[in-house]
Formats: sequence, C-alpha cells, structure tokens
Amino acid sequence: MTDKLEKIVSLCKRRGFIFPGSEIYGGLRGTWDYGPLGSELKFNLKQAWWDSVVRTNDNIFGVQAAILMNPKVWEASGHTETFNDPLIECKICHERIRADQEGEIKYHEEWHKSKKEKVDWTEPKKFNLLVEARLGVVEGEKSLAYLRGEITQGVHVNFKNVVDSVHPKIPFGIAQIGKAFRNEITPGNFTYRSREFEQMELQWYIKPSQEEWERWFNFWKEQRMQWYLSLGMNKDKIKFRQQTSEELAHYAREAWDIEYETPFGWQECEGIHDRSDWDLSRHGKFSGQDLSFFDHETNERFVPWVIETSGGVDRALLFFLLDAYEEDDKRVVLKLHPKLAPYKAAVFPLVANKPELVVKAREVYQSLVASRYSLGPIAWDDRGNIGKRYYSQDEIGTPCCITVDYQTLEDNTVTIRDRDTMKQERVAVSEISDTIQKKL
Ligand code: GAP
Repeated sequence: MTDKLEKIVSLCKRRGFIFPGSEIYGGLRGTWDYGPLGSELKFNLKQAWWDSVVRTNDNIFGVQAAILMNPKVWEASGHTETFNDPLIECKICHERIRADQEGEIKYHEEWHKSKKEKVDWTEPKKFNLLVEARLGVVEGEKSLAYLRGEITQGVHVNFKNVVDSVHPKIPFGIAQIGKAFRNEITPGNFTYRSREFEQMELQWYIKPSQEEWERWFNFWKEQRMQWYLSLGMNKDKIKFRQQTSEELAHYAREAWDIEYETPFGWQECEGIHDRSDWDLSRHGKFSGQDLSFFDHETNERFVPWVIETSGGVDRALLFFLLDAYEEDDKRVVLKLHPKLAPYKAAVFPLVANKPELVVKAREVYQSLVASRYSLGPIAWDDRGNIGKRYYSQDEIGTPCCITVDYQTLEDNTVTIRDRDTMKQERVAVSEISDTIQKKL
C-alpha cells in the first residue's frame, strides 16, 4: 500500500470513518464497515448525487429494488454466462489473482523472486463474479439465488411498472442507489475493490436513434464529470478514458470511464455506458412481457436504448478522501467540500472547567442543533486544549469551529475559525447560523 493510502486507512480507523468488516473475528476480506463519521460522509455523498440526479429533474424517477431477485433475471441479463473475470493461480503458493491485473501479478512475482523462487501460473480460467445465496427454510428445497452483481437489473425489471405508474415522456431516467456484491478475486486497495459495495446509477431511456444517442451520451458524460468537480474534486486528478473493445462488458457497445489519479495509479470511479436495448430486449424475451415503449407524441412503439451512468459510492468516497487529504508540519486537514463534510461546524467552550463558559457554549450548540435541518450535524468538543480541538476537527474536515470565550459572556459574540485559512472572525451569536450558511 502506498504511503498516502496507508495514512487514509489509519485516519479512517482512528477517527471512525471506516473499519475492517467483522474486525473482532479477524475480518472478512473485501468487506468494510462505516463508522459514525463515515456514515455521515456516505449519506452526504449519496444525498448530493440523489439531489443532482433525481430531485432536480422532473423526468428522472427513483426506485429502490430488492437485492434478491428471481435468478432468471441474471440469466436474461447475461451475468450467469458472461460476468466473469480471468483467474490464474500461482503454482507455488496457490494464491489466485486476476489475469488482467498486471500490477498485482508483478508484485506477486517480485515477492517470490525475493525468496529466490520463480512463479509459474496456471492457464487463465473464467471465474463468475456473482455471489450465490441459498433461499428457503426446508433443507433440500433451498433454491439458488444471487446477491445482485449490479443494481441495474432492479431498474430494468421495473421499467414497465414505472412507465405505467408515472407515464413519462421519452427521454426519461430511472435512478437507484444501493448495494451490489461481487466475488472479486483480489479485493484490495482499501475499499477500492470490495466484495460488497454501493452503486449510484442512472438508466436513461432514449428513442433508438443515433442522433439521440450522440446528444444524450455526451450530455451525461459531461454532467457526471461536472458533479465530481462541483464537489471540489481537483480537476487535474480526474479524466475520461474510453474503454477498449476488450474491456467492454457484455452489455456495452461503448463505455467511458471517469478515472481518478490515486496513489495506486489512474483508477475507475464511474462508467458511462451505452447499453443499447440489451437489457429491455433480453428481459422482454426471457419474461415473455412486452417491454416496449409507446410514444404518444409520434404514435411509435419501440424498445428504448439505454445510456447508463454507474458510479461507485465507496470509490467516490475514497477518492474524495484522497483528494481532500493535506498535511503540513502542524496539522492534517481534510479539505472536504462542506456538502460532504460529516460535521458542518463544531462548538467549543474556550476552557472546560469554567461552568459559565460551558453553559453558554451549550446554549450556542443547542440553538445550532435546533436549526440543524438547514445547517447539518454540529459537533461538540470540550476535551483537551483549544488548539488540539481545532486540529482534531481539521482532521475530519469540519469547515468551521465556533469558540465561546470570556468576551462572549460580555458582548454575546463568538469566534468562528475557518478550516482552510485558519483565520478567525468575531460574530454575534445571533449571526452564527447565517455566517456558517454562507461559508457552506
Ligand atoms: N451497471 C454497470 C456496472 O455495474 P461497473 O463498471 O461494473 O458497471 C460501476 O461498475 C461502478 O461500480 C464502478 O465504476 C465502480 O465505481 C463501482 N464498483 C464496481 N466494482 C466494484 C468493487 N468491487 N468495489 C467497489 N466498487 C466497485
């Protein structure tokens, strides 16, 4: 692991962002648990996505489909047959690695070389990534199901339900955020490749025409890139990359990845995929249902094409953390966008052993918490000295720290310290909410 990634992993554990899954039992590879701060950050990230995709577009509708689905779904979608990664096995230690992960292969070979061994690999074989689940209560009558390998299919199988219930005009979208599961051969790089993770996806249904396709594919590519930039991601560390024909998933005619430059190289954060009419046609065929769309404006019936934007919540969260992390000789600071920051502000009494300061600071805290629906979560801290408390909030990305001091008792003003500039300003207690709101 690289130095910076190690620092992020350690910060995440220490400050309650992300813990190894089932840690007290030695963990479970490829699973991660989000702690108090990680849960807030993840919630904020998903909300920012949902607001920008669903709530600000009157022709995009949200769904929450079940994770367990009829196994025929996965036959129709092509996943039981083609959702495979090439697997090779080291003949010395039997470690299994994805045959297309050059870095990991090289690392493994180097490791054996250091022990004066030369690795011999088995021929690549196909390894299906769907995670199986057994359903049913009576032994012997259990039936095979899968934990969904992508959240996408929950949307396509509900295409008819959504059309019949909200009567959209084409083009329109159906969006979803939720968990997906993959039996990844080599989970790694912290949460980057996990076996359980969350996705945020839009399926955008268009008329089957090349002209429409070009217009909307470019539109969504641009929109998705802008979303990351609008949340403060460094524009020099994010780029598009078109997938080669060998990389394309079985459902895709064309795909562009949004990549972020991590300490372990440029890595995929989100994909914009041309899924054509693959999903609806296949589900139409396998279910025997008519999944075409009737366009009342042109009196035409057709199976729409789909442009998909598919982002990983956990990956975006990791990349935002990497992007926000800065350190100098004095402090570690997470320069998270205020929308993402777990706490929007923190309130301190200057010293903890002066009851009148604590009472006043509590009052200020309570008034901000009461208005938290507009500001968001507020932290309280009265431990240690004031300098340590500032650094402690910097490290978790809190944009503002409000300190109640002796002057507060005289003129009802507080100091507000800015995380990024470390500058302080004096503000009347009645103005705190507005001042912070402006900063956010
Ligand atoms: N519905 C299309 C689809 O699932 P994908 O490229 O396989 O496409 C989309 O996945 C996104 O999901 C990826 O860009 C990535 O952010 C996230 N993702 C995929 N596999 C992941 C894994 N094993 N761990 C964490 N995130 C993953």
